[in-house]
Amino acid sequence: MDYRRNIIITGGAGFIGSHVVRLFVNTYPDYRIINVDKLTYAGNLANLKDIEECPNYVFIKADICDFEKMLEIMTEYSVDGIIHLAAETHVDRSIKDPFTFAKTNVLGTLSLLQAARHTWEALPEKYEGKRFYHISTDEVYGALELDSPDGEAPYGTEFFRETTKYDPHSPYSASKASSDHFVRSFHDTYGMPVVVTNCSNNYGPYQFPEKLIPLFINNIRKGKPLPVYGKGENVRDWLYVEDHARAIDLIFHKGKTAETYNIGGFNEWKNIDLIKVIIATVDRVLGNPEGQSLSLITYVTDRAGHDLRYAIDSSKLHDDLSWEPSLQFEEGIEKTVLWYLDNQDWMDDVTSGDYQKYYEEMYSRR
Ligand code: NAD
Ligand code: DAU
Repeated sequence: MDYRRNIIITGGAGFIGSHVVRLFVNTYPDYRIINVDKLTYAGNLANLKDIEECPNYVFIKADICDFEKMLEIMTEYSVDGIIHLAAETHVDRSIKDPFTFAKTNVLGTLSLLQAARHTWEALPEKYEGKRFYHISTDEVYGALELDSPDGEAPYGTEFFRETTKYDPHSPYSASKASSDHFVRSFHDTYGMPVVVTNCSNNYGPYQFPEKLIPLFINNIRKGKPLPVYGKGENVRDWLYVEDHARAIDLIFHKGKTAETYNIGGFNEWKNIDLIKVIIATVDRVLGNPEGQSLSLITYVTDRAGHDLRYAIDSSKLHDDLSWEPSLQFEEGIEKTVLWYLDNQDWMDDVTSGDYQKYYEEMYSRR
């Protein structure tokens, strides 16, 4: 079959990537979706079980740092769009092993950009009808003040805007900032049609349980301690992952070339307050006495360089493309808790490491 578009989604076996792949495969049967993922510890093909047999879906196990392989895929599938999510994403890991973050996030992005440039510039129509969409994070903007820690959200007067100067603090955010600059430089230097988005913290199904929300839901289920960094006063701005995926769909199709869009739901939470909501929800769903799991809260040494507050102003995306989040936070957190408690096999496979056998089992048969 001739597909109307051939789109690479990198990092499609990860948390957000799997939601984006699912949305595109189901919404656009006339697009071929090519999921390019190295399957690091964070990649899990079980996240895509429901769509893996779809005729318009292709999975390729590959490292974005492998420039020759990226070129080969671009040519073989006549790729005209790239949605780039593959990255090392956990701040704590970046503190222990910054090199891996520089390699994947900076050099991997550069390798993908170069492969796209070589392929597209060799075509008669060159960059016409092409798009390189880079998914970034609000962490590149640094940290905001906590002007009113004892009040209600918003916890400060400042917000991250598209014009906010980059000021990354962790090796993770420094590597993402660097990759954002490379992407924009390919527009300014070579005329590549790029678009960049910076999103706030995502939550929802299929998130690797090293991140706060799935880790804490699982620990509560198992009666294990909940390690709260510092005093739990840091503020994060939470968005349901499917709302992020919808925004990516909209911006991929309607976003203006060379623009940056911030994505967020104006939904700030102090960590400790969010943790209490998670505890109350899990205890209620499990039928535990109210407040039972509060005793699991354990204050531990703070994360080095822990950014105090993130808060995204996404009004440009709302005003220009009419995007808004579809879920209220209470609804989103309820769905998320129910999903992790209903999908204990998924969680147990991830925490035991069994999920890494899935690729060998599924793909060695083909
Ligand atoms: P994740 O860690 O869950 O998944 C990352 C995926 O990338 C995995 O499937 C992994 O196997 C793959 N990958 C890693 N290195 C690779 C390489 N060298 N080659 C090919 N594939 C590789 O990540 P996530 O939380 O879904 O984040 C996806 C993207 O969104 C990242 O770029 C991240 O910076 C950005 N982002 C995440 C959040 C969030 O809250 N999770 C918020 C804003 C932006
Ligand atoms: O803001 C977007 C970013 O959100 C993404 O770019 C990152 O890829 C993603 O990992 C996430 O980064 P955070 O560092 O904000 O997420 P994390 O879930 O690791 O932590 C959320 C907050 O909870 C943060 O303030 C640290 C704190 N925390 C985290 C863990 C894992 C704890 O107090 N205890 C924990 O055990």
